[in-house]
Amino acid sequence: MKVESIGKLFALGAMMGLVAIAPVRADDDEETPLGEQMGDVSGALKGLRKAPDFAAKAELARKGQTAVINSLKYLPVMFEGMKDEKVKTKATADYKRMMGQALMLFAELELAFLEEDEDKADEIVDKLKDLKKEGHNAYVEDE
Ligand code: HEM
Repeated sequence: MKVESIGKLFALGAMMGLVAIAPVRADDDEETPLGEQMGDVSGALKGLRKAPDFAAKAELARKGQTAVINSLKYLPVMFEGMKDEKVKTKATADYKRMMGQALMLFAELELAFLEEDEDKADEIVDKLKDLKKEGHNAYVEDE
């Protein structure tokens, strides 16, 4: 192999190495304000397993409601890449529709706990998980 070719090979290897360690986006590790609220939504749902009684579970459902209401102050970060205003306007309405559903479900969840109806609460948690899938499929990149 010629010296020149080896040099090229090194250059290529170095480039590949760089590509492998370079983040896709510089701010990839930073939590967005929406991501932070979403973390609280998730925390409320996860906390249910360890909550000692119905009153504690109802409190977590209220925390979920607050985090969803706060989520509505923000838009998904992927909307920044939407250049077509018509597409963005429609996506914004759809995002609000889903967050509205999330608020309704968390309020229903609180009611189920206040009524001490664990079966109903389980059904509602399943609906929230489905909604998460729907929302993330549509509005979280790489999910
Ligand atoms: C209802 C249950 C939900 C839970 C537990 C939940 C949880 C989370 C969590 C933990 C994150 C941050 C980590 C990650 O990227 O996976 C996140 C991010 C995100 N979620 Fe949710 N989510 C829920 C519902 C939704 C819904 C209904 C939507 C859309 C209408 C949505 C849109 C997003 C978006 C867009 C992000 C990325 C943050 C950003 O773009 O700034 N999520 N979610």
